[in-house]
Amino acid sequence: MSSIKIATTQNEVIDLIKNRWSPRSFSAKDISQATLETILEAGTWAPSANNSQPWRFIYALRGTAGFDKLLATLAPGNQPWAKNAAALVATIGIRETPDTQQKNHYYMHDVGMATSYLLLQALEMEVYGHIMAGFNKQQASEVAALPANEEPVSIIALGYIDDAEKLEEPYKTRELTPRSRNPIATIAAHLD
Ligand SMILES: Cc1cc2nc3c(=O)[nH]c(=O)nc-3n(C[C@H](O)[C@H](O)[C@H](O)COP(=O)(O)O)c2cc1C
Repeated sequence: MSSIKIATTQNEVIDLIKNRWSPRSFSAKDISQATLETILEAGTWAPSANNSQPWRFIYALRGTAGFDKLLATLAPGNQPWAKNAAALVATIGIRETPDTQQKNHYYMHDVGMATSYLLLQALEMEVYGHIMAGFNKQQASEVAALPANEEPVSIIALGYIDDAEKLEEPYKTRELTPRSRNPIATIAAHLD
């Protein structure tokens, strides 16, 4: 892993968070079914409003028809590198509870929580993830045969990391650019 990607933090943030980043260079090593299931199970242990768990994960492994179908929904800027991922995972949000049809106002929030958890579990197992919102939602809904109360939220490219040199521009430069965040003082305020 390129050390320039490790977050330089103002405080002692745990390594798992400092080391997570969104790569585009993935290796030919496959992700086993057991590893993938562990990663997805970790996602389900995220908190959610009322423990409603308004998420589903629809995944496909590289080299399968399902993978090619999900890949085809991605924006032109995502396909050239995401095609090398070992797996693509569509995160699905459940907007209304199926039985009561009651709107869940926090479904997006909770799918994001689950996504965070699964990404950190993945990294613990040396699997990196790259979230994408750049995809055709309508097409992805059709590919995944989603019912009317469900919505694709993101597609995550998962895989073992590879050399940045393998990438073409502009992806190579992005892969080698250090990560940055707004200083904590600009986003946190103490209310007296
Ligand atoms: C909701 C969401 C949508 C994103 N969509 C894309 C995308 O379509 N293509 C892409 O290359 N990166 C995408 N990203 C990745 C972000 O650009 C990336 O997380 C951000 O630049 C911070 O970099 P880091 O994850 O390496 O810390 C997305 C991230 C999130 C959370």
